Amino acid sequence: METEIYYFSGTGNSLFVAKKLQELLPDSELIPIVKRIEENNYDIKGKNAGFVFPCHGLTIPIPVRDFLKRIEAAPVAYFFVIATRGGTVFKGFEVIEDYLKRQGKHLNAAFAINMGLNDPKLGYFAIPTKDELDTIEKNALKKLEEIQKIILTREEYQDKTGVSFSNNKLLNYILERLIPFMTHFISPLVKKYFYADPKCTGCGICENVCLSGKVKMAGSRPVWQSNVKCYLCYSCLNYCPSEAVQIYSKIWMKSYTAEKGRYPHPHATAIDISKQKNL
Ligand SMILES: Cc1cc2nc3c(=O)[nH]c(=O)nc-3n(C[C@H](O)[C@H](O)[C@H](O)COP(=O)(O)O)c2cc1C
Ligand code: SF4
Ligand code: SF4
Repeated sequence: METEIYYFSGTGNSLFVAKKLQELLPDSELIPIVKRIEENNYDIKGKNAGFVFPCHGLTIPIPVRDFLKRIEAAPVAYFFVIATRGGTVFKGFEVIEDYLKRQGKHLNAAFAINMGLNDPKLGYFAIPTKDELDTIEKNALKKLEEIQKIILTREEYQDKTGVSFSNNKLLNYILERLIPFMTHFISPLVKKYFYADPKCTGCGICENVCLSGKVKMAGSRPVWQSNVKCYLCYSCLNYCPSEAVQIYSKIWMKSYTAEKGRYPHPHATAIDISKQKNL
């Protein structure tokens, strides 16, 4: 295969982008990162290798980090990544470049695409209107055509867009280091992160979509097992048909999930998400 596109997607944005990109690249294949981790298979065989995933806390998601740390990528001559995001700055390109450097490789092209925000714990979260979704999709498809040209000609490219937190450079400097650190090293240790409220009907969808295997049904109630790592994909939260999954407020952040709606990508079903895993 000329091009392998590895993807990770909690609510379908990155899946949409990865699928559309695959249609634009001849002799290309889509490969779920979660399946590869489950199979303990880190061999990359394409001449071009791409990674498509969401921005989590300004950086790469935990399973993408775990995968990239271990890849064996000798045949690859050209690497690209696409981070989908709500719209903030993305600091994960440097992290990926660092992992590739350890193998004597280099991240050739790095892109970010703004999509619907899938984080209802935030006070400013709002479900996009139909018009907003249409605009997001139109812009994403336009950007993918530019990305296609860059990849096919194996150009070097670094996306520098994204909104900073404030005009204060020192504050941005601190937050751009603190938030990725919290996302990778503090949030996964928080014991009481999710819970199911009384609206839960016991349907089991949260277990089906859980990409790390953390959610398991115990009778008719979901349990977030404390000994299993959370990928922070928010599939359990966004695909619960009763909107019963909630995030606890933390000392450092109030959670608005009880007052907000949910965001799965309009073309991605719970089954599409669960197909990223074997089990
Ligand atoms: C835990 C978490 C953290 C996030 N952090 C950011 C962020 O720092 N910046 C941003 O622009 N979007 C952030 N988002 C939004 C997602 O990056 C965005 O909605 C993405 O397109 C979701 O892709 P997916 O549907 O493939 O999972 C975050 C989402 C989650 C669940
Ligand atoms: S998806 Fe929602 S309703 Fe179904 S079991 Fe999980 S929490 Fe309960
Ligand atoms: S517990 Fe929820 S957020 Fe964590 S990996 Fe499972 S589905 Fe994703």
